[in-house]
Order: sequence, then C-alpha cells, then structure tokens
Amino acid sequence: MPTQSDIIWIGNDHGGYDLKNEFVRYLTEHEYAVHDIGCAGTEIVRYPKYAIQLAEAVSSGRIRRGILICSTGIGMSIVANRFKGVRASLCTSTYLARMTREHNDSNLLCMGGRVTGVFEALDILETWLHTAYQGGRHDISLNLIRELDGGITIPEAADLQNICERSV
Ligand code: RB5
Repeated sequence: MPTQSDIIWIGNDHGGYDLKNEFVRYLTEHEYAVHDIGCAGTEIVRYPKYAIQLAEAVSSGRIRRGILICSTGIGMSIVANRFKGVRASLCTSTYLARMTREHNDSNLLCMGGRVTGVFEALDILETWLHTAYQGGRHDISLNLIRELDGGITIPEAADLQNICERSV
C-alpha cells in the first residue's frame, strides 16, 4: 500500500493533455499510485495554475516527486523551480533524465507534450523513475542550491560567489 508521499502527482495544461494520458496509462499499468491534478481536455488553460499546485505539494513535503507536462515543458519548469526545495528538470532525452536524477536528485520531471514523441517520452519517464541519486560530491552542489532557497537580491549575489568558491 503506497503512503501518501509515494503517490505520483501529475499535472498538465492543454498542450500536455495527450502525453499526460499516456503517462497515466503507463504508470497505472506499472502499479504506481497516480493522482492526476491536470486539466481534462485540450481547451486552453493557464499552466502556472497546475505547476503551482504540484510544486507546492513537493515543496511542502506532502509528496516526494511529481510530473508536469505543458506544450514545451518550459513554462512548467520556470514556475516549479521558484518553489523552495523543488528541483524541476525539463528532459528531452533519457540521458538528461538519468543525469538529472544521478546529479541533481530531481524531484519534478517536466516534459513537452508537443516536443517529445510518446515512445521517447515513456523511456524518459521510466529512466527518471528508476535512477537513484548518487550523492557524494553532488551534495555540495545541492547544498549551494539550498542557499538560494530564500531568493536572491543583487547585494547577496557577491556573498553567494564567495560561498561557491569555498565549496570545493
Ligand atoms: C501554451 O500554449 C504553452 O505556452 C504552454 O503549454 C507551455 O508550453 C509554456 O511554456
């Protein structure tokens, strides 16, 4: 029985609707618990609405990981990465999916429904789901990202440069 945090949330706008359906079918067939918060058709909607809901759930720790799909994946990733603790990755290849799990401990997969074909997209999904974070030296970079979680102002940028130089 999956815990609440194991449930994979998936969100989409009109441009991600068709690929979302393919993903829900795949995830259900592979016995993942899925919670679909996306729009239910191709009528024009606003992608930030879905990205905000899903990124908030990851950021608050209610869920461990989620998937967002719009036409390009770009808008969803821009919105999601504003949330503390969210590491949203726009992936267009299995290489990117593997690397972003191994190095960035990505917790949100973004995809472009009008960019990536269904079979490639399913391979990307599978790779992202099954690849573990490598930890080790990558923790240094993730900790630097955590320093940015409160947002950045211009005077703080110089301090951040110092932190980066110290973190080797
Ligand atoms: C909607 O037409 C499109 O702008 C949206 O799906 C997304 O690709 C934005 O980045």
